[in-house]
Amino acid sequence: MGKTRIRGIGRCIPSNVVTNDDLSGRMDTTDEWIQQRSGIQQRHHIDSDCGAADLGAEAAREALERAKTRLEEIDCIVFATLSPDYDMPSSACVLQSRLGLTGVPAFDVRNQCTGFLYGLTVADSFLQSGRYGKVLLVGGEIHSTGLDFTDRGRQVAVLFGDGAGAAVLERGPSDDRGILSTHLHSEGSFAEKLWLEAAASRGETRLDEEMIAGEDPKIFPKMQGRYVFKHAVTRSIEAIREAVEANGYSVDDIDLLVPHQANLRINQAVAMTLEFPEEKVVNNIQGLGNTTAATIPLALYDALEDGRLTEGQLVCLVAFGAGFTWASALLRW
Ligand code: COA
Repeated sequence: MGKTRIRGIGRCIPSNVVTNDDLSGRMDTTDEWIQQRSGIQQRHHIDSDCGAADLGAEAAREALERAKTRLEEIDCIVFATLSPDYDMPSSACVLQSRLGLTGVPAFDVRNQCTGFLYGLTVADSFLQSGRYGKVLLVGGEIHSTGLDFTDRGRQVAVLFGDGAGAAVLERGPSDDRGILSTHLHSEGSFAEKLWLEAAASRGETRLDEEMIAGEDPKIFPKMQGRYVFKHAVTRSIEAIREAVEANGYSVDDIDLLVPHQANLRINQAVAMTLEFPEEKVVNNIQGLGNTTAATIPLALYDALEDGRLTEGQLVCLVAFGAGFTWASALLRW
């Protein structure tokens, strides 16, 4: 048996499109500012009562179909999300129930923008050790119900969108194709540079009246944007170099770079510093915004659909996010 392969990818994007102009009707922002600073033109927000697991389940069904895999063949579910349906139980368990798959282990990976790559590493380890045969890995987020759409929250609220991507993983035959290596890092001393403080177990009470009234900024994500931007560029570059060097390659050998989608300018700065051609970088933030744990499977999905991702290519995945955490993976597709 060989390396771990992504057999099929699926996605679910809510149909409700929210343009930059829609947002400028709700807060003090403009289409020009958002596009210039982030590259984002629109994002999708749910417009009905649903959770991350609902989006994830739809993405999972498509991934299973594309992988030509029956639901019953899945023997582990990993769900990467920062916006779980509930504090407990895990969204993985909710998704398991939505899919109608009983008994197999299901758990969440709460690692924000690097969640999919952390989940990929966990799944790869399970598969390579022989513990499980097929793993369903899902990245799913609903941001729109947790953002501050007043002027106070404009720096963050314009960036994020809802969506889910899913992948079916299994070991392939003994050849060079599959996951070559993954690389994970974190530095918790930067936790407060990008965080969501409440509702949480720390503190006298998880929810007080101010929070319930939506008046306490602690209930919304906060970010030191410029600080995060600089670290994202530096760490992404490090992680890409680490992935190629670990496998005896150079950056020039990468056929397709699939980065996390936090800001188009971050991905452009990474490509420019590495002198890596921009046409080999997959970006879809323009239409989706930042969907955190879902960005990488959604970008892979797009690259497969538009024919940029083809068999035999050397593909590098990279992500950076809250924690700080950063991660990369190198695959022979
Ligand atoms: N619309 C209009 N103006 C806005 C705005 C908005 N949505 N958000 C902030 N501004 C204003 C600020 O108030 C500030 O005004 P001032 O100069 O009068 O003080 C000005 O725009 C510049 O703000 P700043 O935050 O310095 O802008 P920026 O160029 O750094 O861009 C981000 C902001 C958030 C787009 C950018 O910093 C970023 O992408 N950071 C990293 C995101 C990331 O990687 N996240 C990690 C993974 S989730």
